[in-house]
Amino acid sequence: MTSDLLTLSVSTLYLILFSTSFPTSFGVFSQQSPITMYTKRMEKMTHLHFYFHDILDGKNPTAVRIITPPNRSVGGFGATYMIDDPLTEGPEPGSKLVGRAQGIYALASQHDIGLLMVINLSFLEGIYNGSALSILGRNPVLDTVREMPIVGGSGVFRFARGYALAKTVSFGPKSGDAVVEYNVSVLHF
Ligand SMILES: *[C@@H]1O[C@H](CO)[C@@H](O)[C@H](O)[C@H]1NC(C)=O
Ligand SMILES: *[C@@H]1O[C@H](CO)[C@@H](O)[C@H](O)[C@H]1NC(C)=O
Ligand SMILES: *[C@@H]1O[C@H](CO)[C@@H](O)[C@H](O)[C@H]1NC(C)=O
Ligand SMILES: *[C@@H]1O[C@H](CO)[C@@H](O)[C@H](O)[C@H]1NC(C)=O
Repeated sequence: MTSDLLTLSVSTLYLILFSTSFPTSFGVFSQQSPITMYTKRMEKMTHLHFYFHDILDGKNPTAVRIITPPNRSVGGFGATYMIDDPLTEGPEPGSKLVGRAQGIYALASQHDIGLLMVINLSFLEGIYNGSALSILGRNPVLDTVREMPIVGGSGVFRFARGYALAKTVSFGPKSGDAVVEYNVSVLHF
């Protein structure tokens, strides 16, 4: 009799706990709950620092406009560039090549200057040679420091996730050429 009662009250307790752990009303923007994950392999955190050279001018541009927006577009909205930009150790153009940024950026905002970046950062240096990270995100180029998500990777960067911080160190208003400092922080296996 007592054990039956106990079972009953335990299951009632479960019911109460369970029903309150689900949102009872929608219209709540966000909710967080703790989760525990067990992995056999230790995740590593890697920081990378390099300079991105975006060259639009001259004989050997590394960024070319592939889509020109119609004249009625506001502030160049829609302009799209394909890039194969060198990534170097230092800010000088002749500095050691450590990788390449290959992909697309496009003017994706009608309200300010915001680029959509879809870029494969492929590396050439040391253990990172042949490995890559994917950037997908918004780059408001007039901001001093921009943060963009790293959404994945390959090679040593399998399962990568993290973020990139970018800061323009030089910009030629006539040529459009830019050198941008990047700090990338990623978790990966
Ligand atoms: C866009 O503007 C340029 C320069 O003002 C003009 O030469 C060109 O014909 C225009 N194109 C269209 C599609 O209106
Ligand atoms: C990204 O870079 C890596 C390393 O160079 C390469 O294996 C991969 O094919 C590239 N992916 C794309 C979509 O460019
Ligand atoms: C990177 O890998 C490529 C292809 O395997 C090789 O040709 C190149 O010498 C390597 N570069 C460095 C700096 O190790
Ligand atoms: C990158 O990190 C270095 C060293 O911490 C710092 O001096 C620099 O300002 C950082 N740059 C960006 C764009 O985050």
